[in-house]
Amino acid sequence: MSTRNTLRAGMVGMGMIFDETYRLFFENARASGLYDRMFGDLDVELTAVATRTGRRAEATKKSAGDRLADFQSFSGDDAVDKMLDAGVDFACVATPDDRHFEACKKILDAGVSLLVEKPSVLSLQQLDELVALAKEKQVLAKVVYHKLLDPDHKKVRTLVHDGVLKHVNSGYCTLLEPKQISGDQFSEWITGRNPGTYVAVHYIKLIDFSFGGRLKTVTATGQRGLVGPKDGPTWDSTQMRMIYEYDDGREAAFDIHTSWVTPDNFPGYVEQEVQFRFDNGLWNGHSRKRGVECTVEGKTPFEMKISMNNHYNGTFVEPWGDRSQRGYGVEVIERFVRELAAVKFGGPESEYAERLAAAQSLTYNDLSADRQTVAAVHALEAILEKAAAGEPDCVVRVNDSNGGLVLYRPGSAEPEVLYDGKV
Ligand SMILES: NC(=O)c1ccc[n+]([C@@H]2O[C@H](COP(=O)([O-])OP(=O)(O)OC[C@H]3O[C@@H](n4cnc5c(N)ncnc54)[C@H](O)[C@@H]3O)[C@@H](O)[C@H]2O)c1
Repeated sequence: MSTRNTLRAGMVGMGMIFDETYRLFFENARASGLYDRMFGDLDVELTAVATRTGRRAEATKKSAGDRLADFQSFSGDDAVDKMLDAGVDFACVATPDDRHFEACKKILDAGVSLLVEKPSVLSLQQLDELVALAKEKQVLAKVVYHKLLDPDHKKVRTLVHDGVLKHVNSGYCTLLEPKQISGDQFSEWITGRNPGTYVAVHYIKLIDFSFGGRLKTVTATGQRGLVGPKDGPTWDSTQMRMIYEYDDGREAAFDIHTSWVTPDNFPGYVEQEVQFRFDNGLWNGHSRKRGVECTVEGKTPFEMKISMNNHYNGTFVEPWGDRSQRGYGVEVIERFVRELAAVKFGGPESEYAERLAAAQSLTYNDLSADRQTVAAVHALEAILEKAAAGEPDCVVRVNDSNGGLVLYRPGSAEPEVLYDGKV
């Protein structure tokens, strides 16, 4: 007897990342379903969406036609509640990073599993609330860090895991985005925001997940004057440093530089480079220079990029003739849905708790394992806020004698406790 299970999905926010990844996942899943011996033949259907104005949802519906289910679209203040009332098994949140928390809370509170874009939330207090809700409602709460699925990042982690590369001691990462992102794509929500929280977080997580250790200290600085006024709260570029300590008492330092004001005629869409130094080796990675450079008269570098990342979500004609758009940006969403399907349909109801615990133990995406990453983001936000208020050069220390996350201002003896509990 063949039985078919269904997972009904909700989507909050349908901007750039929806178009680049979620939409492709939902289209592929509608066309082919998902299968695994553990959960069988699975339908995944985009059932309802919640957006600010409804315009992007309508445009998607029109252009997708039958490639997506005839989803219900809700907009306005109660859009997320209505999306949940439509009846969904999981919901994805891809709103601007300072609007994740409210939607996530509603989703988990309704007993619906959650997949939220990075950074999950901006403070440890918010993280605690969501993790507690997921536990209470016995559902999954996971975050998308698609760069952990980049084959190059998987390889460096594998070499560390296998002891080939020994003991990281320092490193740097940069991710630079074009001006079009800050000036056009994100113009609705960019005031008061910074490119660090939005993209440095990829590397914070990569470092945290790949090398382990305990986050000790965060410092940061940045530049203003292009996206907003030179003394305002909106940042053009940021540079942060994190210090980690490992079990043997030795430390490592990591610098992460980000910007969203790189010229639009830059040859690649984003510049992404990492270097990690180990006791016995060196890893140099450049995701834009993986080997492809292509020039087309009249097209590059604007309409097409000169160096392209064909691993994230490239468009292809497959050798067997199909057109496809695929890569690790889509794979990471499918992986979450497979984890959820295994929990829901992977065995008898009496063993649900064990299957749930197994999925929750995956530290690459579970919210409960996002503590140090959220701590670094929380610290960065606090340091930049102080700088914008005229107090630059603050330092945040993690788990010291004054609290879990404590901000120190130069010249002031008074620590400011950002988070009481242990990180
Ligand atoms: N994984 C990645 O590499 C990656 C890349 C880009 C963005 N992101 C993340 O995805 C999220 C969204 O980024 P984006 O690039 O798609 O931004 P975007 O500005 O293109 O889209 C945001 C969307 O959310 C909608 N929205 C805003 N407020 C809302 C609300 N209160 N309720 C419902 N919808 C709302 C907007 O109308 C828009 O459609 C951010 O958290 C960002 O960090 C991740």
